Amino acid sequence: MPAQLKDLSTYAWRAELSVGNDVIDGDHKVFFNLAEMFQNASHDEENKIVIESVMSTLTEYVAGHFKREELAMLSAEYPGLEAHMREHARFTETLHQLMQSYYAGSQGATEKLGYTLSQWLTHHIEHIDHKYKDWIKEKDVDPRPLYEVAGCLKQDDIDEIW
Ligand SMILES: [Fe+2]
Ligand SMILES: [Fe+2]
Repeated sequence: MPAQLKDLSTYAWRAELSVGNDVIDGDHKVFFNLAEMFQNASHDEENKIVIESVMSTLTEYVAGHFKREELAMLSAEYPGLEAHMREHARFTETLHQLMQSYYAGSQGATEKLGYTLSQWLTHHIEHIDHKYKDWIKEKDVDPRPLYEVAGCLKQDDIDEIW
């Protein structure tokens, strides 16, 4: 097991990762929190409910955040949109595979999920998201909650749940 798996600083957002937009930075911070929750929950098999809730939140967050960024890039007429979308699609696939291996009972799947998420996130923000930093302006970013941006849930559905 790599030594970094034990290092919780792996799971922390830091100022150098800012893309210059508070809404998008806010999404990124939540991703790191989710990665840390996987890491903490992985020490205890009794945390099944926590782990599965975090996985479901992560799935919605990934879909919503990627949509938010892609719509912002589209609005800004950012030329790297297509390549960026491919990176998002590839990671969505990786995430689904990791979740499947968790449900298949694979040993260490939870820890691997948290670690992969934080590693991918750090790399993606530093090398891919940062490229749109000078293109995207505040007006390009839809600031609404992610469930509205993704269109996967409507406010009526939320009201019904609660
Ligand atoms: Fe991002
Ligand atoms: Fe991105």
